[in-house]
Amino acid sequence: FEVNWNAEAAEKGGYEHFMLKEIHEQPKAVRETMSARVAKDHSAIIMEELKWNKEYLDSFQKIFVVACGTAYNAALVGKYYIEKLVRIPVEVDIASEFRYRSPIIDDRTLTIVVSQSGETSDTLAALKESKRLGAKTLAITNVVGSSIAREADQVIYTWAGPEIAVASTKAYTTQLITMFMLAMYMAGIKGTVTPERTKELLTQLHQIPAQISETLEDVEPIKTFAKEYGFNEDVFFIGRSLDYAVALEGSLKLKEISYIHAEAYAAGELKHGTLALIIEGVPVIALATQKNVYEKTLSNIKEVKARDAVVIGIASANDSELEKYVDHVIKVPETDELLIPILTVVPLQLLAYYAAITRQCDVDKPRNLAKSVTVE
Ligand code: G6P
Repeated sequence: FEVNWNAEAAEKGGYEHFMLKEIHEQPKAVRETMSARVAKDHSAIIMEELKWNKEYLDSFQKIFVVACGTAYNAALVGKYYIEKLVRIPVEVDIASEFRYRSPIIDDRTLTIVVSQSGETSDTLAALKESKRLGAKTLAITNVVGSSIAREADQVIYTWAGPEIAVASTKAYTTQLITMFMLAMYMAGIKGTVTPERTKELLTQLHQIPAQISETLEDVEPIKTFAKEYGFNEDVFFIGRSLDYAVALEGSLKLKEISYIHAEAYAAGELKHGTLALIIEGVPVIALATQKNVYEKTLSNIKEVKARDAVVIGIASANDSELEKYVDHVIKVPETDELLIPILTVVPLQLLAYYAAITRQCDVDKPRNLAKSVTVE
């Protein structure tokens, strides 16, 4: 009898890698980030940490959301939420671009920085630069007392718990949830979303953790795709609007940990260059969950199919159309199309994970990458 105890294995809680553990922790992470912030009767979002009023919100002519890496991809979703629900113009920027391009900022600007670690040097510098120019600042971060949390005027914490794997998963989904709650909180103050629609959205929001669990139940088809297509050197991700934002995160996950060259394209932009790269057998992951652009996305999917790409569609459970045009479909539970990115990203995280396994890559510590980039 031998006790084979190793601290790291214990921390992984039975999972082979931190990344897989963290993917599976998402229902809990999202639930904790939401708890105490969604009114019991689903009538409003409560942000005790902000205490904003209409006068304060009306003072903003523009909002910047600035971040790096996965947090930047979450910021793109945030822009969509704030513009759609609150009708304030939002500009999203990569922190290392923002800080050197003399952005137009004054005291009528709100700068939101998003950072899992709260320590990314470019994001911290962008925050300081915004403050210097007179903007009000808000940080969305996962680490209490981090440099970014201390520097910002106000903080909203994501309660994802410690994230160890270099590739971010549960931090991303909690950032999306936080962005959505922030937009709904602002909409509540500004009166830009009706009480009925608010109730509908928050009722759906409440179901998201259970729906993430559902998407985690059936991983076998994803493992099969990873084995089948994991040895391709190029993979493309396409989608429109929110699907495009998720496509960017899916492609980042794949390239970070499996070293497959992955590119995300706005589906409508394919014709302007990328279509030249679509040849027989190239895997294309096509997200098609947004109703107002569904037909347009479908015609882009037909374009890549006509060039014999292998298309894996990502769709909502109530979609019975997409399967007619693609090679495989992965379905996620039905929810409002604003919230569906929080579900569609999960199979993409798993696809990246199993592709990395197929290629025998070091999932938790990919080459050349660090969890937190505190140097320039
Ligand atoms: C590194 C990590 C990414 C992360 C990015 C931003 O590149 O590998 O996973 O998204 O930094 O980090 P932050 O802590 O600011 O969110």
